[in-house]
Amino acid sequence: MKQKKINWHKLADSVAEIPFSSNSMASVSVAGKTICVALHKDQLMACAQKCPHAGGMMAEGHLDALGNIVCPLHRYKFNLQNGRNVSGEGYFLKTFRVEIRKEGVFVGFEENKLFNW
Ligand code: FES
Repeated sequence: MKQKKINWHKLADSVAEIPFSSNSMASVSVAGKTICVALHKDQLMACAQKCPHAGGMMAEGHLDALGNIVCPLHRYKFNLQNGRNVSGEGYFLKTFRVEIRKEGVFVGFEENKLFNW
């Protein structure tokens, strides 16, 4: 299977530099896109800024006890590791890989993906 090429972009100098709100989420602009970044139990995760259902702003939702993201509009719930709609409505939330390196925090976007998020 052909490996998907990932383009990495620096999103912050460190996790402490990310402007998290009290819900442990932040909207961050990187490479001309705004994404949602979430911190759950020291694990940093990232997803599309808008909900695939009806465009709710994911960073204004909340994280449940398992680290799933809950949309603020209709409370559909998504796994931030794989984008699965764990509350069962059949949607899929785009998620992104995040790496914490010594030069900073990086997010990976797959090359040639249509950026419709
Ligand atoms: S817009 Fe997110 S659940 Fe409806």
